Amino acid sequence: PYQKEVDSILALMTLEEKIGQLNLPSSGDITTGQAQSSDIASKIAAGKVGGLFNIKTAAKIKEVQRIAVEESRLKIPLLFGMDVIHGYQSTFPIPLGLAASWDMDLIQQTARVAAQEASADGINWTFSPMVDISRDPRWGRISEGSGEDPFLGGKIAAAMVKGYQGDDLSANNTLLACVKHFALYGASEAGRDYNTVDMSRVRMYNDYLPPYKAAIDAGVASVMASFNEVDGIPATANKWLLTEVLREQWGFNGFVVSDYTGINEMVAHGIGNLQQVSARALNAGLDMDMVGEGFLTTLKQSLEEGLVSEINIDTAVKRILTAKYQLGLFDDPYKYCDTTRTKNEVFTKENRDFARKVSAESMVLLKNEGVLPLKKSGSIALIGPLANTPHNMAGTWSVATQQEKSISVLEGLKEVAGEAVTINYAKGSNVAYDEAYEKRITMFGKEITRDGRTDAQLLAEALAVAKKSDVVVAAIGETAERSGESSSITNLQIPKAQQDLLDALLATGKPVVVVLFTGRPLAITKMQEEAPAILNAWFPGSEAGLAIADVLFGAVNPSGKLTATFPRNVGQVPLFYAHKNTGRPLDPAKTADCGFQKFTSNYLDVCNTPLYPFGFGLSYTTFSYSDVTLDKAELGPNDSITVSVKVKNTGDFDGKEVVQLYVRDVVRSTTPPVRELKGFKKIFLKKGEEQIVQFKLQTEDLKFYDTDLNFIAEPGEFQVFVGGDSTTELQNRFELVN
Ligand code: IFM
Repeated sequence: PYQKEVDSILALMTLEEKIGQLNLPSSGDITTGQAQSSDIASKIAAGKVGGLFNIKTAAKIKEVQRIAVEESRLKIPLLFGMDVIHGYQSTFPIPLGLAASWDMDLIQQTARVAAQEASADGINWTFSPMVDISRDPRWGRISEGSGEDPFLGGKIAAAMVKGYQGDDLSANNTLLACVKHFALYGASEAGRDYNTVDMSRVRMYNDYLPPYKAAIDAGVASVMASFNEVDGIPATANKWLLTEVLREQWGFNGFVVSDYTGINEMVAHGIGNLQQVSARALNAGLDMDMVGEGFLTTLKQSLEEGLVSEINIDTAVKRILTAKYQLGLFDDPYKYCDTTRTKNEVFTKENRDFARKVSAESMVLLKNEGVLPLKKSGSIALIGPLANTPHNMAGTWSVATQQEKSISVLEGLKEVAGEAVTINYAKGSNVAYDEAYEKRITMFGKEITRDGRTDAQLLAEALAVAKKSDVVVAAIGETAERSGESSSITNLQIPKAQQDLLDALLATGKPVVVVLFTGRPLAITKMQEEAPAILNAWFPGSEAGLAIADVLFGAVNPSGKLTATFPRNVGQVPLFYAHKNTGRPLDPAKTADCGFQKFTSNYLDVCNTPLYPFGFGLSYTTFSYSDVTLDKAELGPNDSITVSVKVKNTGDFDGKEVVQLYVRDVVRSTTPPVRELKGFKKIFLKKGEEQIVQFKLQTEDLKFYDTDLNFIAEPGEFQVFVGGDSTTELQNRFELVN
């Protein structure tokens, strides 16, 4: 599209202006590394800027756009990209939480609302969705993706792209989406951020690449290259990845942007100086340089020296100009800078109500020994360093959130509980004993204020408050800065100060409900053993406290299910449900009690099973599953098979359930995972109600990449498992025939 228009502008451009289009400097509003840019306004006027990174507010953006379209020679408008990751000002749960809703319409709608709000405040491009599969909770950025599963990850990737981009990119309320981080960033060694990735192609194609491909298939307009290397070459300069896979195999025709100083960082990776790595990036298929200005400062010389060709520069420029045409910026460069829209469409009551609903839908009830839902009478002790902290509610990458307006647990509980309930609040402890560590995990400072009182004084107050109350709600866990970018950890427990607080609260004998904040799977084995109820709230977003109260008091029956396995301890990592069987698997019959089996694949000190499996989450009601039937015994090439299961709400509450379908390819030429998710449906059942839930499977659904990377389905026996989490043993089987 727009080829003629783009060509006619290109014909007018000087080399400097072309290189300028490939430059995405930082406005300085938000930085996640060293910002390299200066003199932005004069660079824009000189045609040396293609877009601006993370600049905030329509008014500011309008002024910058004015410089581009009134002061630069060719009047080419700018892109304005921002990390609009889980909402704009109306902030939704972190993506890992959002994924736990398993509700694709809801997720798509969150992206729609985010686009609506961001586009009303000047933004036309979001650096989202982040679709990196991660099976390592040590990695802080697991919070930004949808978890460990490629099938679910692909569905979410597509939903997000559709939500941001809508059907018409030229509408003034849609954004260019940017799928990231291409590729494999979630598999960094030892979960340490920015670390090396080394992975077989078979694993890449089967387990890690599908969500990126799903975003491409959904029409995503841009792609961000990842920081890590792939097969020994940083993704930013990896021609196989950026050209062969992305464009030739998958047919992507949008533009590729580097991550923040991703080009410059290849010097430290050890593959050349800034000029060499910039040339390599361009030649590999990277079109836009985020913040680092390697392209701006070296491409001219590289052209003169024959390191790059003008055709490659032109190709990149064309891709960026095309995106600007798609957005309609040449017709109206100010179309996203309507400040009346900012006033009327951002952080509206409607959007905040929606965020409240989504937050409640994403929470996962991990344990409940009859304590929840709470009664709306008597007294509640709300205790914990995360109970009265609006700044800690939205979580990582909430760059537009008005943090001080987010609803804390204390505020939400008070509002929802009403007059009949007395809420007694105490902080109980600091976030961590170690002040230096606490500072590190509350980087932006404002979230948590260290208490002037001693640990003993804090605890004494908390115990007094607990003793005079009927039930304790403990708001504890991670601070927002303990997950997200550059927040890797090697201890998956909650900080000791908070565990000690919890122990003391449990020792009072009062029923304790833990409201857990986290951006990652945690190894909360002791908590699981001792606390009567645990509600995993993730980082729920701007309406956090209200949504938490909705769930605690039962206005919303929790229905979230985990999309990343929670291990028993960090040593089990990576731990994920779709693992291979190995040649020496444990005998499942002997593993129920975590028994050790010599000369099989297991540990001496911990069993193989997780604390909470993928797909797990409780409800205030219960569901029974029975009668998994198939409409035929054999599946032919152009046919489909229907799997049916009876699901019944057997408890005392109406509720939603995520019905999950897993498949095991019993024998194939390349070792199969023990099971893989192939379908899911979120259903609502009134108490006592039952429903037959059906899934269709076709040959296409049974395909995998074999060792030669052929995407094939091999005839033979398949097992199907249906249930409420990935450990379900309710099953049937069929034969795939030629
Ligand atoms: O979009 C992000 C990316 O996910 C990590 N590095 C910085 C980018 C821009 O803020």
